[in-house]
Amino acid sequence: MNHGHDQAEILDLDAEVVAEHTASITEWLPMADPRQIVDLGCGTGAGTFALLARFPEAHVTAVDASVDHLQRLRDKACEHGLTGRVSTVQADLDAEWPDLGTPDLVWASASMHHMADPDRVLRQVHGTLAPGGLLAVVELAGMPKFLPDDAPESRFEQHHHDERVPHRGADWGPKLTAAGFTVEGERTVSVHIEQSAAVERYARVVLQRLLDPDALERVLRRDDLALRSERTVWAARKEIA
Ligand SMILES: C[S@@+](CC[C@H](N)C(=O)[O-])C[C@H]1O[C@@H](n2cnc3c(N)ncnc32)[C@H](O)[C@@H]1O
Repeated sequence: MNHGHDQAEILDLDAEVVAEHTASITEWLPMADPRQIVDLGCGTGAGTFALLARFPEAHVTAVDASVDHLQRLRDKACEHGLTGRVSTVQADLDAEWPDLGTPDLVWASASMHHMADPDRVLRQVHGTLAPGGLLAVVELAGMPKFLPDDAPESRFEQHHHDERVPHRGADWGPKLTAAGFTVEGERTVSVHIEQSAAVERYARVVLQRLLDPDALERVLRRDDLALRSERTVWAARKEIA
């Protein structure tokens, strides 16, 4: 399995398992009726499809550097009869700022911490949004963990996260203010999803990179396997000048 495919599968599983939490975040957004939405670093479309469901009049422009993720997103849009409401833009946001029109809502979920210079990207989002528009930044306050802390194998999960996500837990509030936004709200959602077929598939895909096959099968048999994570969302307004 190549890494890109692996990531796409993880993103799809994550979208499925945390769908209710994502829906509750979209409902919380202080935004009544956006028409043009941009999903920055959209991946395979977790946010795109949640936003299309939440805002039935909206069109989403889904932006990502990965051609494969965008293809997967378009396939899903086609499956669900949503092609007329989604367009995709392939762009490396570190390198170029694409023409994204004048959206009234920009959604950036688990993508901002990947940017080489997030402060610059936030300023670019501010310049792109319509006056009065909203930027929603969603970030993992802690990486997903499947094992309880007292499981012997849980140290592998912890090590992996510390290595891979150096900006985990960054406080985006001051960064948003520095980029010109007014932060209107911040909310942290705790995710604890009990063992299910989808949680087990998700755990298998993630943990098979960290554990030897015997240890993997051992932990997947645990009845306290669960997805534990935390997401924080910041709602940041571009004031009407
Ligand atoms: C962890 S995924 C999150 C995907 C999606 N927003 C979600 O919530 O499931 C991060 C995404 O950001 C994209 N990404 C990372 N750096 C990027 C860049 N410089 N320009 C555009 N997209 C980028 C990756 O390709 C990936 O799809």
